Amino acid sequence: MCGIIGYIGNKPAVGVILEGLKRLEYRGYDSAGIAVVNDSQMYIRRASGKVRDLEAVLRQDSCQGNFGIGHTRWATHGRPTEENAHPHRDCKGEIVVVHNGIIENYLSLKEALIGEGHQFITETDTEVIAHLIEKYFKGSLEEAVQKATEKISGNYALVVLSVLEPNKIVATRVGPPIIIGMAEGETFIASDIPAILNSTRDMIFLEEGEIATLAPGSLRITNSQGQVAEPRVQRINWDPVLAEKGGYKHFMLKEIFEQPRAIKDTTISRVSRDTGRVILDEMKMTEKDFLQVEQIRLIACGTSWHAALAGKFMIEKLARIPVEVDYGSEYRYRQPIVPPNTLVIFITQSGETADTLAAQREVKLSSTKNIAICNVVGSMVTREADAVLYTHAGPEIGVAATKSFTTQLTSLYLLALFLASTKKVITLEQGHTYIEELAKIPQKIESIFDSVKYFEELARHFFHSSQFLFLGRGIHYPIALEGALKLKEISYIHAEGFPAGEMKHGPNALIDETLPVVVIATSNDNSSQSNLLYEKTISNIKEVKARDGIVISLVTQFSKEAIEASDYHIQVPTTSELLLPILETVPLQLLSYYIADRRGCDVDQPRNLAKSVTVE
Ligand code: AGP
Repeated sequence: MCGIIGYIGNKPAVGVILEGLKRLEYRGYDSAGIAVVNDSQMYIRRASGKVRDLEAVLRQDSCQGNFGIGHTRWATHGRPTEENAHPHRDCKGEIVVVHNGIIENYLSLKEALIGEGHQFITETDTEVIAHLIEKYFKGSLEEAVQKATEKISGNYALVVLSVLEPNKIVATRVGPPIIIGMAEGETFIASDIPAILNSTRDMIFLEEGEIATLAPGSLRITNSQGQVAEPRVQRINWDPVLAEKGGYKHFMLKEIFEQPRAIKDTTISRVSRDTGRVILDEMKMTEKDFLQVEQIRLIACGTSWHAALAGKFMIEKLARIPVEVDYGSEYRYRQPIVPPNTLVIFITQSGETADTLAAQREVKLSSTKNIAICNVVGSMVTREADAVLYTHAGPEIGVAATKSFTTQLTSLYLLALFLASTKKVITLEQGHTYIEELAKIPQKIESIFDSVKYFEELARHFFHSSQFLFLGRGIHYPIALEGALKLKEISYIHAEGFPAGEMKHGPNALIDETLPVVVIATSNDNSSQSNLLYEKTISNIKEVKARDGIVISLVTQFSKEAIEASDYHIQVPTTSELLLPILETVPLQLLSYYIADRRGCDVDQPRNLAKSVTVE
């Protein structure tokens, strides 16, 4: 939450910073600000609202300079007013700070600083940092930042600029990420890769507690003990074009349409051309480590948690290893019991979700091995994991997770196959068949896109609805949850997902002639287990119809009974039971998208949300 950007170079800083803030806006969008130093003068411009509001302020009252910092905010402490917008200042306006995170002890620090004569003008926790740096500044901004961080607790990514040392920008972090981008004659600081991907692919991920001091032509990094650390430059191979809208109305729509490519990329590097076996090349764990695994725990938040729920079905069915699923936000508060030979898998698109990271820290207290399934190279979760399985979705800018979810499902399927073949639960031939089925998925998704007009049509029918239900059974239940989450987060329509069999235990009371109920009733004619669930789902459709609900079913060509019993149906191609969730997800994303768009909602930046949830 909150996006930070910093720039030193030969271009006018305002343009570079505004460009970066627009690319970071998905991290927070309730106010924005910028500070530029020029001729030892500090120029600050801020606005409540979006980056375009800040741009309007700058059009009226611009500022020049080649050094600057910027911020786009997701409010935690203090309302999203202009006054509370970053950058925040010390008493004399000589030191400015942008911050992502929360300073937990800010109240006691504020009280003490007020006692020493400092004057505060905002409601934020961040302002104490500016005053602490002011207090400790004795000629070196780096030292003052170091001393200030000794006093604060919580989590933070900070970037500091001062007229007292006008040629420097100092940055540090504990928790949220800071990335430094290096280009010819220019240095960038950002919260996330896409913000600066257009300017450079050579990036340094600042480690926990490190302080980076940037000056023209130089970069100095010191670790938490004050020793100089060697910058570790990583080359990022994301295509900058992926971080652009490319003619689509919204990033979300573009990202939905990128799924065939994303799934292909996630699969290609993982399957041996010669043997057809899954190879997890980013895995540093040994075969022996995997053979010892007796149970698995999947931990995640939000959409990634839905992927975890579906992953449980995949791993249990293919590898016959018991799986538990936990919310990152709940895990550490219940004194979890972790039996020996447990493997913990963290699933996170961003790799920086605070709750997931806190669960990972808890797991690491014991000697339990942990794997990260993650989309962002070098992100925090990957650095703490024993092994990493990257999804190759590319940058996901829309706040609503789309391609990251289907590539997580793909990765979990591959991981389940890997475990199954390592434990010799499946034969090589069976492995081949499973992989062949996966290889057909991208093409099958393309065929769903042929029905875009029909999704727009459905959206036209239902965009006025005030609530929706989504039902599914077995591995389709997590997809019902994901369908409901997508709709509520981008259209603000109240939507819930339920296991279809649970309806009679309460939710049936909600059904009336105005309620659209999306029922996942995909049938796969060659699996008896899935057919059993399908038959039960038909009964659930009939129960909804008997109470006058409106049924929109998600079906395959084999779902004859479901088609007949429903008011509307959406057909997806057939595939194996464990891969159907990927195909079911795409129409639900499109339905939500077109409903939200028709309602005039801000699809890419829904109210009250942010892409990376870096606060607990
Ligand atoms: C879903 O559309 C949301 N963006 C949200 O639920 C998200 O999945 C959750 O915050 C977890 O994020 P992560 O995958 O980056 O950890």
